[in-house]
Amino acid sequence: MTRKKFLAGNWKMQKNRAEASEFFQSFTRILGNLSDVTRVVDIAFGVPATLFDVSVKCAMGSGVKILAQNVHFEKQGAFTGELSAGMLVDASLAGSIIGHSERRQYFAENDEAVGKKWNALALAGLLPVVCVGETKAEREHGKTNDIVTTQFEAALSQVSTEAKGKEFVVAYEPVWAIGTGLTATPEQAEDVHKMIRGLLAKHFGKERAEVTRILYGGSMNAANCAELLQKPNIDGGLVGGASLKPEDFSKMVQAAQNFH
Ligand code: PGA
Repeated sequence: MTRKKFLAGNWKMQKNRAEASEFFQSFTRILGNLSDVTRVVDIAFGVPATLFDVSVKCAMGSGVKILAQNVHFEKQGAFTGELSAGMLVDASLAGSIIGHSERRQYFAENDEAVGKKWNALALAGLLPVVCVGETKAEREHGKTNDIVTTQFEAALSQVSTEAKGKEFVVAYEPVWAIGTGLTATPEQAEDVHKMIRGLLAKHFGKERAEVTRILYGGSMNAANCAELLQKPNIDGGLVGGASLKPEDFSKMVQAAQNFH
């Protein structure tokens, strides 16, 4: 079974509207007709809310998905500073990254909230990109699989049966590899991805496990992406730093096209 590779950029708190628009122009110039490219590789960008409209406009008709980097799980109400899944639909977004380690670390996002966000996105028809991953200390203590399993299962416990029926993507992002230049080796990443594939089979059945994409994230770049992507359980990447420059990210997309 070959899963379509999926490369998602995570722009974090970077770029203004002019820069976003320039990015998409260069990205399109380098890759050519994006709708041909997205037929073989899924491409997405998690962008700041100020870039939703310009990004959606630039990506229109190309098959490139624009994602949020966070969402609130309630439908509406007195939650100053938050955006609901319905608002993301209204902004023509395709989904959202949830549970990113920076949100867990700096904004106290926990597994329960991640699960509620997953549920809210799925029920709104949006794609949840669910991030999990261990810290350096946890890896050194041999706790990687336990931590990732707990994060995934605790989040899943908040997802309704109906929402479980909808597509989602898992992003394995070892915290020690994010923004550090220390990429997990293809073998280290593959081991965890295989374990996650087993978790998917346990909770969703073998068939769903086989079609659900598991992305790797953490200092993935144009130089190391091919060796990661060639592993059987690495279905793409969630890319921070290397997604900011069209030259770098388009090289990664080209590498992913070779696995089609
Ligand atoms: P990085 O970030 O590629 O800059 O390490 C990845 C992420 O945080 O999603």
